[in-house]
Amino acid sequence: METKILKPDQIDEAARLISEGELVAFPTETVYGLGADATNEFAVKQVYQAKGRPSDNPLIVHVADVATVERFAEPLSDTARKLMAAFWPGSLTMIFKLKPAALSAFVTGGLKTAAFRFPNNQTTLTLIKTSGKPMVGPSANTSGKPSPTTAQHVYHDLNGKIAAILDDGPTEVGVESTVLDMSTDQPAILRPGAVTKKQIESVIGIPVMDELHHVGTNEVPKAPGMKYKHYAPNAQVYIVDPGDSWQDVSRWIKNNQLQAPIGVMAFDDDLKMINWSTNVKQISLGNNVSDASHNLFRELRDFDDQPQYKIIFVQGVEPTGLGEAYMNRLNKSAGQMHFKQL
Ligand code: TXA
Ligand code: MG
Repeated sequence: METKILKPDQIDEAARLISEGELVAFPTETVYGLGADATNEFAVKQVYQAKGRPSDNPLIVHVADVATVERFAEPLSDTARKLMAAFWPGSLTMIFKLKPAALSAFVTGGLKTAAFRFPNNQTTLTLIKTSGKPMVGPSANTSGKPSPTTAQHVYHDLNGKIAAILDDGPTEVGVESTVLDMSTDQPAILRPGAVTKKQIESVIGIPVMDELHHVGTNEVPKAPGMKYKHYAPNAQVYIVDPGDSWQDVSRWIKNNQLQAPIGVMAFDDDLKMINWSTNVKQISLGNNVSDASHNLFRELRDFDDQPQYKIIFVQGVEPTGLGEAYMNRLNKSAGQMHFKQL
């Protein structure tokens, strides 16, 4: 079965497919998601199969109104309502305690909580309203690969495995939403994203925990997804930290007389300053962290289509604000390898 590419004027067809229990990939402002009716257990099961995703890794439920969250979750706190008012629709996913048996264990990974997100994409909000179904939506990539930021990326990974892709062009943010656990006494960030810790704290006026820095290697991570290998291209990625010099990278490539082609993903200004050897493919990440976040997954995916590249050097940034989300993804792509270690 060839996967159909649908345009935003074909939302009705996408909604019909979702109601019938089919899988439809959908756009959001962060990355593309793999949609299925969250109340249809059979449909949700297919999501894990299509992605090759471990079944203990729970899914985010995408909604187009707060009432749907109230239908499944225990009564919302004032803090939760403040965050919804400030950041929904947008890139903040919140985890709430569920009413008993409110959602299938295939959605929750067997937990008593579920993650909810109100994405900032009009096409997808209309899709949810038209189908009348809350939609599960993991990122629409094969498990372990960089998340898809275009409909073509989804097609590359999932053609033949899902009914359709709703194509609304490239996504804006480029990295996935912030995941905030609201089911514990103190809110805790389980995955950094475009909505930052500072922004959340300034809305709720209480400190937010950063689970990321608490998870030791022997502990079970709170967000099951954080323990899996992720965002890894076929080539080895090396992070060039803000304190490192691209001159040194260029010199290293020349000194080691590497003839094989090498990828370099850096900011515009750094690329221009250097006289790169001819085996280097230069990829611009743009001019700032938000450009780099927008471009990162797309460029890593492009290298996967060119298997002659075995090494890619990628610009690292300070891990503050959106830089924290960017570095979280880049560290996983690189398996924590840095240029310094060479
Ligand atoms: O931007 C996004 O969030 C995208 C778009 C499509 O909305 N979705 C996305 O979903 O990134 P996914 O499945 O790739 O990542 C969801 C993360 C995983 O790390 C998962 O373990 C965690 O959220 N998660 C989901 N439900 C949870 C729960 N009840 N408790 C703890 N972690 C949860
Ligand atoms: Mg994912």
